[in-house]
Amino acid sequence: MTDKWWILALSLSVMGPSHGLTQTNGLAGADRDTWYHLSQGTEFFPLRFLLALNDADSGEPFMKDLERFGFVPDPKGPNNPHGLPVGMTADPTRDLRFRDIVMVGINCAACHTAVLEFGGRPILRADGGTNMFDAERFRSALMRSAQKTIDNPIELVAFVSRLVRQPRHVSFDAKEVLFTGPLAKKVGERIEKVFDAVDGPEKRVADKLHDLIRQELQEKPFDLTRGLVTRPEDPKLQEATSKVNARIKSADAMGSSILTAETLLEAAPFGEVITSLRLLRARLEALKVGGHPIMTPPGFGRVDAFGGARNTLFPDKAGPLDAPVRYPFIWTIKDTLTWYHWDGNTKSRLERNTGEALGVGAVIDTETFESTIRFGNLASLEQLAMRLQPPVWPKEFGETDPKKAAEGAKHFKKFCAKCHEGPKADGFIIDSLTTLKTDPRRVQNVRRTVGGVRFFDAQSPILKATIRQAGLQVEGDKNVWRPSKDLEPKLPEGYANRPLPAVWASPPYLHNGSVPNLYQLLLSAEKRDKTFSVGHREYDPEHLGYTLKPARTMFLFDTRRPGNSNSGHSGPEYGTTCLTDDQRWELIEYLKTH
Ligand code: HEC
Ligand code: HEC
Repeated sequence: MTDKWWILALSLSVMGPSHGLTQTNGLAGADRDTWYHLSQGTEFFPLRFLLALNDADSGEPFMKDLERFGFVPDPKGPNNPHGLPVGMTADPTRDLRFRDIVMVGINCAACHTAVLEFGGRPILRADGGTNMFDAERFRSALMRSAQKTIDNPIELVAFVSRLVRQPRHVSFDAKEVLFTGPLAKKVGERIEKVFDAVDGPEKRVADKLHDLIRQELQEKPFDLTRGLVTRPEDPKLQEATSKVNARIKSADAMGSSILTAETLLEAAPFGEVITSLRLLRARLEALKVGGHPIMTPPGFGRVDAFGGARNTLFPDKAGPLDAPVRYPFIWTIKDTLTWYHWDGNTKSRLERNTGEALGVGAVIDTETFESTIRFGNLASLEQLAMRLQPPVWPKEFGETDPKKAAEGAKHFKKFCAKCHEGPKADGFIIDSLTTLKTDPRRVQNVRRTVGGVRFFDAQSPILKATIRQAGLQVEGDKNVWRPSKDLEPKLPEGYANRPLPAVWASPPYLHNGSVPNLYQLLLSAEKRDKTFSVGHREYDPEHLGYTLKPARTMFLFDTRRPGNSNSGHSGPEYGTTCLTDDQRWELIEYLKTH
């Protein structure tokens, strides 16, 4: 027995780091768990609500099969007690008015984790790579599911009957827990059956509940973003908390005039229904803040981050989102990349992360700039991101051919290195649209003014106020805070020349993800596919991209839609017309090792 153990352990270790799934690229063990699940203060929805909610389309539990949104599953463990997928976080809310309610959010890893499969099996999990996560699909499904639950009393009651049976997750003050253990189960079952009654006192209870729900729906939903309090020493806290409690507890299902003595006990649980409805509506309103009209659906692996930021921060200047971009791989930020984003618009980590956190669901009170962002955790996530390394080509994709790769290296030196290698490829040099000719929308939208003011000049005061409100310094350190003069109008409209380590691990390509594989990127633009399927993870180790023939189409990328053009990065300047097909394959071989 003991001997066999050793043999097994030995054979596992011999497989070594290049064996796909056992390969890690900078983060392992508890650090990796932290990268996957540390909250940055984005707060989508209470965990208990999520666990009780059913999906509007399928009728199945919302939390079942989160892969449909492109989440990567992650098993339960000491650092992931709820078994949430990679990039999903659960932490007590920072809104102290709702002390201890555990809120679900997302962090960096939801977008920046690539999983490549081969033969239907996951082969490589590349931390920091582009995930096929569709944040918009997730948000809108959550909204529709919450809305459907609110709109349909039967759905609502079923939801609450599941909700009361959910554990509370954190230690509430015992007095506040209305129903625990066996009683919770009983109450849940009781609520579940409430609308079954056809006559007698039970029917009266059901009618009364219908009335209460109708009345509640006529009231304006409660605005969670106003009066946000995040610091325990804030003198406003007491007042704000009692205001919220009063609103919530005014759900008086035991209204004495209609209910008789014998129905009183029966009706007690209905306070739960109205309270839950009240909170559910409030959360739905908060979710709606992140909803913007969409011209070009991002699909899997993309988001229009700057378009969303513009609409959230300047709602009166909002427009439809038309420039979704791919989540870039971020294992470059340790050694090579200094200027961040597809158009190299910042080197401030603090600003970048604050904008990002607000963009993906941190709650902000736009009057006081109080927000739920956890700046300490953002710093930790940033430190973890700085440890990411490019992954190594896994053997399961086939051995690389060193001779062919060496030939490819020569082509790279000749045609590609001037833009993609060396100190100049740190994200600072911007390749002008006039030569590059890739889709202009992403950069043009950011260069456009907001009410006559340049976007970053308009955005900076808001981000600074948010950072100051959290008690942090914004001035003084240029590397932490980007002075807005960095974005001069004379900065060319275009995209940055960036380093390409392990670029094979993060398809599809270009800032908007419009080219499915590296082979096609080396062809002239007109020869590339006009439409292709995205969302699946089956990898094509020949052309270096996700397969063009997946078992099913999850989302069809259409390069003819606004913002989706696959033109550019083509012609003699970019080598595509100078390479013979043999040379292309040599270059591909080299890129596997680069
Ligand atoms: C909803 C998906 C999403 C989440 C969550 C997210 N990012 Fe990103 N990230 C993006 C997108 C999209 C871009 C490119 C934006 C652009 O340039 O338009 C980006 C860009 C970056 C960049 C610049 C990289 C480069 O190559 O220019 C860094 C660094 C980065 N993210 C780190 C993080 C960190 C750290 C977190 C968590 C604290 C995070 N991201 C959370 C989607 C996301
Ligand atoms: C004149 C500068 C220049 C040259 C030469 C050049 N590129 Fe690029 N490359 C860029 C720019 C700028 C982008 C970003 C364009 C975009 O995202 O729209 C880019 C994007 C890419 C990408 C996509 C990266 C990603 O994460 O999506 C790859 C891959 C790439 N280039 C490979 C090559 C190869 C291989 C060569 C040589 C055959 C080459 N490039 C030649 C400037 C150049």
